[in-house]
Amino acid sequence: MSETIRVLLSEEEVDKRIAEIAGQISGDYKGEQVHLVCVLKGGVFFTCELAKRLEIPVSLDFMSVSSYGSDTKSSGVVKIIKDLDEGIEGKHVLVVEDIIDSGRTLSYLLDNLKSRNPKSLRLCTLLDKPQRRVVDVKVDYTCFCIPDEFVVGYGLDYAQKYRNLPYIGIVEFD
Ligand code: IMP
Ligand code: MG
Repeated sequence: MSETIRVLLSEEEVDKRIAEIAGQISGDYKGEQVHLVCVLKGGVFFTCELAKRLEIPVSLDFMSVSSYGSDTKSSGVVKIIKDLDEGIEGKHVLVVEDIIDSGRTLSYLLDNLKSRNPKSLRLCTLLDKPQRRVVDVKVDYTCFCIPDEFVVGYGLDYAQKYRNLPYIGIVEFD
């Protein structure tokens, strides 16, 4: 099976929106340090672009979780593949994710992080597919709400491909 990629959000649109969200976050956390928790691998491009534009002190950590399932669907069973290097107790934690789909991964992750007693815990996502939500998740910062399509680029993959595209594209299976 082969696939083609149709542009949904151009590089310029994505960059402009990330700058806006970064401005909003910088204002909301004024006078504080924010601890970004990047959800690997998909969140890595967005985390870097966001972090570069924040005007407050930033620290970074990385976590990798997997939800078992096929290439295009998550099953709801979440496993920590790589945990954070440092504790988050007393820190202003902002989880940075590529996309929220069913909400299962983030619901699990936020509950897990909450139990480690951060000073605050918020969620920032590049993309949200609200129509697909199965588990309720409070999203504090959303760059784009998108329709129920499978997308790639800016960190998002299809079978580990296309993460490096500088734009968001819809996968069309031929
Ligand atoms: P959730 O647990 O269903 O919310 O799934 C979240 C994870 O599924 C994301 O972090 C992605 O890794 C993956 N995912 C969901 N939708 C897409 C998509 O359209 N393209 C690529 N990956 C996706
Ligand atoms: Mg993924």
